[in-house]
Amino acid sequence: MTDIKRLAVLTSGGDAPGMNTCIRAVARCALFNGCDVIGIRDGYEGLLRGDMAPLDAREVGGIIQRGGTILGTARSEEFRTEAGQLSAMQILKQHGVDGLVVIGGDGSMRGARALAARGLPIVGVPATIDNDMWGTNMAIGVDTALNTICDAIDKLRDTASSHRRAFLIETMGRNCGYLAVMAGVIGGAEVVLIPEAPVTIEEVAAKVEDAYKRGKTHSIIIVSEGANILTTELAGALEKMSVGFSTRITILGHIQRGGRPTAFDRLLASRMGVKAVDALLAGQTDVMMGLRGREVEPVPLEDVVTRQREANLDYYEMAKMLAF
Ligand code: F6P
Repeated sequence: MTDIKRLAVLTSGGDAPGMNTCIRAVARCALFNGCDVIGIRDGYEGLLRGDMAPLDAREVGGIIQRGGTILGTARSEEFRTEAGQLSAMQILKQHGVDGLVVIGGDGSMRGARALAARGLPIVGVPATIDNDMWGTNMAIGVDTALNTICDAIDKLRDTASSHRRAFLIETMGRNCGYLAVMAGVIGGAEVVLIPEAPVTIEEVAAKVEDAYKRGKTHSIIIVSEGANILTTELAGALEKMSVGFSTRITILGHIQRGGRPTAFDRLLASRMGVKAVDALLAGQTDVMMGLRGREVEPVPLEDVVTRQREANLDYYEMAKMLAF
């Protein structure tokens, strides 16, 4: 056991559904174990402003089902500098914080690693819809985003089939094709474009035309935002190449980031939040909680920030096969 008396929690980077569930789990578990809990607003940006306040059990009530983050979030340039990190350490000391849980994506874990290296007991919890982080099968928010995407595809297919159209549906994910690939499998897409597997416009056009000739009433094309061809560029080219279907574009955008967390995300967020606090109280630091198989386990932050998650090419191939 450690002598952590005051534990802080922050959310950082792009918000993800389930962050609130995790804040609640962290706060309640820490309070249960006799710690004071401090909520830091707006991620590392708020930390540098000293913007923090105690969180009690009631303040984290009624948020288990809410998307977004009650603490607010930000991407902080200043915190990336050495001066910023030194200043953050000082501010945490002034507020008597002796342990921190950081909920966020890969950039947030880089920040956590930097503070851990300066001696602050710290545990990360992965939360990003992109699912681009090494060390966890799933990050908090991914399942909810996929459900949102699946719902959108189902609706778009209704109208696509009625008009015999090809729909280009752009998903988020930055440089990671996870959301697009999984959307391709669960949404029954004809074509999926991901950053990890570049294709030519001609290849896509051939597949879409082939689908038309085989009598399909629609064509669903999922384009990851980081793919090597822009959605608008592809739509324009398909129109010019007369592939049979006329084309329409839907960019799902930030709708993928909002909404009530699914049961899976609530469970994952609760488990990870509790495990993060347990780890800190047991003297662990410089780790992130990862879903490995069925278990939530600590993985070194050093590995999280230096290692690359493998692309899901097996699912990519599966999506292609099932589009037959
Ligand atoms: O990392 C989450 C994410 O939603 C990415 O998928 C996307 O590229 C980016 O954030 C969008 O960032 P912003 O909300 O700053 O526009």
